[in-house]
Amino acid sequence: MTANANAKPPHRGPARLGVNIDHVATLRQARRGVEPDPVWAAAAAELGGADGITIHLREDRRHIQDRDLRVLRETVQVDLNLELAVEPEMVAIAVATRPDQVTLVPERREEVTTEGGLAVASRRGAVAEAVKRLRDAGIRVSAFLDPDPSEIDASVALGVDAIELHTGRYADAREGRDRDAELEALRAAGARIASAGVGLHAGHGLDYRNVADVALIPGMAELNIGHAIVCRAVFVGLEAAVREMKARIDAAR
Ligand code: PXP
Repeated sequence: MTANANAKPPHRGPARLGVNIDHVATLRQARRGVEPDPVWAAAAAELGGADGITIHLREDRRHIQDRDLRVLRETVQVDLNLELAVEPEMVAIAVATRPDQVTLVPERREEVTTEGGLAVASRRGAVAEAVKRLRDAGIRVSAFLDPDPSEIDASVALGVDAIELHTGRYADAREGRDRDAELEALRAAGARIASAGVGLHAGHGLDYRNVADVALIPGMAELNIGHAIVCRAVFVGLEAAVREMKARIDAAR
């Protein structure tokens, strides 16, 4: 494997929790109004112990809007992680707004949510250009990948700071042998990422029941979770829902 120019020792201790608040913006966009405001959601998530706030500014602006990014950049006091397609105009928005971290994701207009990991090996030039522009602007770069060794190696070689493993297949698998196999794939990918000195993150489909095994993967530094937390927040409030998820992650260690 090619060495990563920014290699660091593996993360120790409980993983950080990044709370994805896109679903709050989705609810607002259902009426194209002002409520519920994702800016309020970010504040409540911080009060509940979130270590980061994650938003996805999609090219079709179906949930998070440019105004949300601007205001959140001013108000969020923990890490702001911006998920973004590998497109020059989206990268330019990040460079101008300076989130703490950008997570590069694939984007297809017809998808309900991000469906698979980013294809890095087959789009090396475009991804390399995005990574360079973002890192030159002082923004940490993470790549959202399936647990696929060739995609991991290609991303490590491009000098990303972190790799977020797509946990969707693990989350969708039936408990038992299927899920164990998906967990094993995540563990193997995690070991590859950590041994390259790249930050290990994970997300997608994680919930209160399936999070512990992923939080326990050695070197796991950050978990980005949205849907499960916002669903629980409908009944218990966002601050409490975040606090409960944070407790599950901490207890897994
Ligand atoms: N990480 C990435 C890269 C994502 O695209 C998403 C979904 O927006 C998440 C994490 C959070 O997924 P979920 O909402 O299923 O927790």
